[in-house]
Formats: sequence, C-alpha cells, structure tokens
Amino acid sequence: MDRYVINGGHRLYGEVCVSGAKNAVVAILPATVLIKGRCVIENVPDIRDVKFLTNILSHMGASIERLDASTLSVDCTDVNVYDISDFEGIGDMRASYYLIGALLGRFNRARVGMPGGCDFGQRPIDQHIKGFERLGATVSVCDDVVSAEAKCLRGASIYMDKISVGATINVMLAAVRAEGQTVIENAAKEPHVVDVANFLNSMGADIRGAGTDVIKIKGVCDLTGGSYAIIPDQIEAGTYMVAAAAAGGRITVRNVIPKHLDSISAKLREAGVEIEEDDECVTVTRLGPLRSVNVKTLPYPGFPTDMQPQITTLLSVADGDSVVTESIFDFRFRYVEELRVMGAQLSVDGNVCRICGVGGLTGARIRSYDLRAGAAMLIAGLMADGRTEVEDRAYISRGYENIVDKLRSLGADITMQTVDGVY
Ligand code: EPZ
Repeated sequence: MDRYVINGGHRLYGEVCVSGAKNAVVAILPATVLIKGRCVIENVPDIRDVKFLTNILSHMGASIERLDASTLSVDCTDVNVYDISDFEGIGDMRASYYLIGALLGRFNRARVGMPGGCDFGQRPIDQHIKGFERLGATVSVCDDVVSAEAKCLRGASIYMDKISVGATINVMLAAVRAEGQTVIENAAKEPHVVDVANFLNSMGADIRGAGTDVIKIKGVCDLTGGSYAIIPDQIEAGTYMVAAAAAGGRITVRNVIPKHLDSISAKLREAGVEIEEDDECVTVTRLGPLRSVNVKTLPYPGFPTDMQPQITTLLSVADGDSVVTESIFDFRFRYVEELRVMGAQLSVDGNVCRICGVGGLTGARIRSYDLRAGAAMLIAGLMADGRTEVEDRAYISRGYENIVDKLRSLGADITMQTVDGVY
C-alpha cells in the first residue's frame, strides 16, 4: 500500500514534461510479439504497467534491453510460447488482453488469462472475441482463460457493436498478418489507437484509416524490426492541466500534442481557466473563481472517460451546479464518496453525478479506487485546506511516471510513503 501525504493550498507554478502514453505503450509492447526483429521504442514511460509487460515478454523468450531512461530494445524473434495462461498477474491489468491478439497473429494460437484492470463494473471482451472469430479463429473462455485457435487467419469485415479501444487494437494485432484485407467498422479513434497503427506500419504492416471509424488492414507475411517513438500521454497531460486549474496558478505542460487535448481545453475554458496553446505545449492559468460546467464523457474526440474523476473533483469547488455524465462505463463514480469526506456536495444517480459547488475542500484521510480516481484524489488534496492522506494500492504508479517529483517541481507539498520508506 502506498500513502500520499499532501498539504494543500499551494498554487502551482512552473513547467512539467509529459511522458509517453500509457495506453499506447501497453498495446505496443504486446505488439512486438508479431515482429521477428529488434524494435527500438522511444518515449517509454517508467510506470508499473510497462515493468509488468516487459517481465511477461521476457518470460516468453523476448530479449529486452533498456537503452536509456525512456528507450527500450525489444526483440521477440525467439518468442516460442503461445500459452501464457499460468503467468502470475495476467489478471491484474486490462492490457494483458493484447497478448491474445498478438499471439494469435503470430502463432495462430493463444491461451491467455482473462484481463483484470480498474473496476468500473462490467468490462466484457465480447467485441474482441467477435473480431477474432470473424478472422477465422475458434475462441473459448474456460476457467478464466481465453483460448483462441485458427488454421489460418483470413481478412474479414468486422462491425464493432460498441466503440471499443481495446477491441479495435486487438483485432488490428490479429489481422496484420491475416490473408487478405480486414475492415474494422465503428472503430475507436483514440490517439493511442492511431499510435499502435503507426507503430505496426513502421514495422512493415499495411494499416490505413486509423483515427477514423473505418480501419483497413491488408495482411502482410512478416513484420520486421525498426524504431518508433510513443506519442505523449493525453491523459497525463490533462491531469496536470486540471491540477493547475484546481490548485490555481500558472503552469506550462510540455511534450504534448495540443490537438489531443481539445476537449479538455474546451471544458477548462468554459470553467474560466485560461489555456494558451503552442506547437508542443499548453499553458494553463487559473487565478480567479471557477465556473460550473456540464461534462459528458464520450469516445474520442469527445471528453475522455479517463479524465472524468479529475474534472468532477475540479467542479466540486466551482461556483454553482455542474452535471457530469459518464457514458462509457457502468460504474465510474465510486470515488465520489471520498470527495464527500472532504466536504464536497455531490450526488450520483446511475451514470450521472450532480455537483453543488462548495467554497473549498478540507483535507482528510481518503483512498483511491483506481488509477484515474487516485490521481483525482491527489488533485483534491492539492486544493484542500490542511493535510490529505491518500491510501493507494499502487494504482497511481501504474499510469503516472514520477508524479510526486513532477507535482513537487510545480510547488506542491507532497510526499509518498511506501513500504520502502518516505519519498
Ligand atoms: C481502454 O480500456 C483504456 N485502457 C481505458 O483506460 C479507457 O478508459 C478505455 O479504453 C476507454 O477509453 C487501456 O487502454 C489499457 P473499451 P478498454 O474497450 O479497452 C465496453 C486508464 O485509466 N466493451 O474502449 O477496456 C466496455 O465495457 C484506463 O488508462 C464491451 O462491451 O475500454 C465499455 O463500456 C481505464 N465489449 C466500453 O465498451 C468489449 O468487448 C468502452 O470500453 C469491449 C468493451
């Protein structure tokens, strides 16, 4: 268990540099299984999910070398296992499901434990399975293990009944070496979907249309190695933008793609926050009162569900009433209870959270329920009066590189206590 201790009330000033995108790298690392050759991957964030996936790949026979703080060399030429169902911890993260598509695409076979991940209620994988079956695989789920097998994978047209980031990427992984053309319709358009497609194309794949709702994949025989740089993390950038809006002050968030932040910038501007955009950075200034705003999470380019806990926390101290609607997941407001402990006034009815803005929050002992709610609890501590302790079952370190250093560099009074000591 990690414990973050924050003494709130300090405005944030200065600059913070965003790391590589977690939700891109957790797909790109499994995608290296498709490639017989050395992949040099740059801008890799130093987060727990990366450590976990590189451990799995090593156990599978991959050669992995850290070339510098954010560059990995991964060579899966000698990977020779398709059954990783007994690997410890597969069920701890959501992105382990990408190993199904990658192993199926490499070996026409895969046996992988069911994915886990943050608990937002039901998180089925029926669209992943539908895609694999349309490509010619036989898929079964038994005792929490997904088994997929195909004599050979043939391109097909696949309509996604639900817009799914994971299913879109997973079907891409299985289809890149299938015979013929695959068309994914109603595809997810998130920046990390595009990043995975660009990575695969840089290794010899033939994927067109990523970033639109129709992706066409022409199967190729083999993928070779190469070099690739992960895009900046849209959600990490958004989290620091909201942190500055919440605590007040003026910060510049560097190494971003402003276009990816459009919906976040738009909502912050509506709330009275000043956002200035340059080519690769945004500057966030908030010195006056916050205005109430209504937000609805949607697939990209809509407002990201992974920013929902952070914006709800911010709006808890805005002037007036706000409504936040969560349209992606069934149950992503569990953290609201913790904000109430700090004095926030919010009510949740199904997937709608109604917020009555209060003058401020009071520090308390709270807990984080998942990665993004955990980051939101840190934001609550930054803007609260007094001391806040956030009990965190190591969710935050799964997706935020050096968050304590980065917040401290902006003027936050934050420490992290782990079993190894106080940092
Ligand atoms: C990815 O999860 C992200 N995780 C999530 O980020 C993110 O919240 C989510 O996409 C939405 O953007 C990773 O990329 C590792 P989905 P994923 O499939 O792929 C339903 C974070 O904090 N659905 O796009 O699991 C599903 O239940 C994490 O970084 C099906 O019904 O999300 C949900 O309601 C949290 N059947 C909706 O679709 C399926 O087969 C969108 O889920 C698949 C999904």
